[in-house]
Formats: sequence, structure tokens, C-alpha cells
Amino acid sequence: MHPDFESMMISKEEIAARVGEIAREIDRQYAGKNPLMVCVLKGSLFFFSDLLHAMEIPAEIDFISVSSYGAGDKSTGKITMKKDLSEPIEGRHVIIVEDIVDSGNTLSHLRDLFAERQPASFAICTLLDKPSRRVSDVKVDYCGFRIPDEFIVGYGLDYAERYRLENDIYVLKRSVYEK
Ligand code: PRP
Repeated sequence: MHPDFESMMISKEEIAARVGEIAREIDRQYAGKNPLMVCVLKGSLFFFSDLLHAMEIPAEIDFISVSSYGAGDKSTGKITMKKDLSEPIEGRHVIIVEDIVDSGNTLSHLRDLFAERQPASFAICTLLDKPSRRVSDVKVDYCGFRIPDEFIVGYGLDYAERYRLENDIYVLKRSVYEK
């Protein structure tokens, strides 16, 4: 384990098992609907890819990039659009795929933005949910794991762009981000 990590929170095996369960749930609920799966870059990249591989129904993909955090550990509440979707979503069944819902600011912003574009339906799928940190109310439809308020990295999640490529999810030592 990397010396910057306090402990492992979720192993790659636990992630894979839960991703499979979510994929089967989406398969069941969206059968015959060809949903548009939206990856919120960059953190949800691996979750998105594994989820799509595990799903069996036909689906289409698109990517969006927004930023709420700088190099620090707290949400600024200000969402910046860095890359919008490449296609209109009017009339589509949209499932937005996130790595983590923390304050909820990012997803409440995206939910309101997408609502203006009149999709047929809209759902939120997140690997991780930290309900204790919620500032903006968001309804999560699919959630991998509810987790306590720890700074976590790995499986796409970073701290100042580091540790994203770790296969498991780890708790980062306080000394690393409280300098
Ligand atoms: C992270 C994460 C979510 C958001 C969640 O993204 O991927 O998009 O923060 O936090 P919130 O619920 O408090 O809004 P980040 O801005 O760090 O970008 P990244 O995914 O490119 O690392």
C-alpha cells in the first residue's frame, strides 16, 4: 500500500461485485430503452467503463467535464463547465454516472442544466455517496456504496491529480492534505 494511504476502504473485488449488481439493475429497469449514459469526467472514468462493460442492454455514451474542486479538498460550490455533451438529450433516457456525490453541488447543477434540455427521463448513478456532506439536495437513483466522511482516492478519484490509477479505494492520510 502507498505510504500516503491510511487504509483500504473498498477493494477492487468489492467494487467489481457491486458494479455488476448495479449493471443488472439498470439492465432490468431500462430494457428496450437504449439509455444515454453520461460520464462525468474525470473521476468516474473507470466506474463508467466497468459499468458499461457489465451492462447487457444497448446503450449510448457521452462525456461531460465540469469542475467544482481546485487542488484542495473542499467543494467551492462554483461549477465550471469545461466540456459539454456532444449531442442533444431531448427525448432521451439519460443516466448520469458519477464517482462520488459529496456536497451534491455538481449533480444538482447538472440535474438543473439537463432538465432544461428536456430528456425523456433522468437518473443519477454514483459509485460512492457521502450523505453526511450534503449541501445541495440530490436524489441518487443508483448508489454503489454509502461511505463516511473520509478523504478517499483511487479507482478514478484523485487528490490534486494523484492516485487516480489505484485499483482499490483508499483513505488518504490527513497529513497529505492538511499541510
Ligand atoms: C468530483 C467528483 C464529482 C464532484 C462531487 O469532481 O468527481 O464530480 O467532485 O463533489 P460535490 O458533490 O461536492 O459537487 P472534481 O471536481 O474533483 O473533478 P474530477 O472528477 O475531474 O476529479
